[in-house]
Amino acid sequence: MKVVIAKDAQEMADFAARFTVHVIRGKDRVKLALATGNTMVKFYKSLVQLYREGEVSFQDCTTFNLDEYVGIPEDHPASFHHYMHEHFFDFVDLPAAQAFIPDGNAQHLIDEAQSYEDRIRDFGGLDLAVAGIGTNGHIAFNEPGSSLASRTRVKGLSEETRRNNAKAFGGTIDAVPKYVITMGVGTVMDAHFVLLLASGHTKADAIAAAVEGPITAMCPASILQMHPHAFVIIDRDAAARLTGTYQLVSEALSDPFEEYFWGL
Ligand code: GLP
Repeated sequence: MKVVIAKDAQEMADFAARFTVHVIRGKDRVKLALATGNTMVKFYKSLVQLYREGEVSFQDCTTFNLDEYVGIPEDHPASFHHYMHEHFFDFVDLPAAQAFIPDGNAQHLIDEAQSYEDRIRDFGGLDLAVAGIGTNGHIAFNEPGSSLASRTRVKGLSEETRRNNAKAFGGTIDAVPKYVITMGVGTVMDAHFVLLLASGHTKADAIAAAVEGPITAMCPASILQMHPHAFVIIDRDAAARLTGTYQLVSEALSDPFEEYFWGL
């Protein structure tokens, strides 16, 4: 696990986007796992900007979103389908047939989750997973207590997460779905690279637990300590509760060992 501290959320997003472009350019037919949430808005903006500048094409990429709510229409403003179009899909050359998101309206949700997991495997696995973190340490929608070996499945949301996400549903927790389909912790861990992004004071406790706490299912993101190529890219506010010494973005970029770490 490599922790890199950005001066602000913009630098966090730009560094993550540049890393993503590096992975896409370094390998044929890259498979990405993509996240949603407020943290990711700046990341997609930065990625779209790099696309517009001709730095990257998504033509040969395949994307798998980490998760989706169960039981809300795809065009619901809070659905992750809607989010991905609003922030990314509609602005880049990623072919629609190569962009996968779990179907939270599938008639057989358990089968849908299994076939999503199978599809990732059939495509040869994930090269890079980009994830955020919940205030309770969740990664994708793997809430505290999730098996650290879990695969894509239907999960119930904690009250804390439903409260945090209520704003997108008009501010009422009752409007937030109780169930989701989410990649498992094991699914994310199988990606060759993982980027964990976080910004703001509200994430400081979760980041401290994930980076410097014990590896525990009570903080699912803490399993990234076991990942050989995980980058935790956070702004100063999200890093506020860390006690270790970590590189700044500028230092990470000039580190002579960086080339080894970035090697595909
Ligand atoms: C969400 C998503 C995660 C996301 C996290 C943090 O609900 N399922 O993929 O990374 O919680 O979201 P935010 O960036 O809005 O704080």
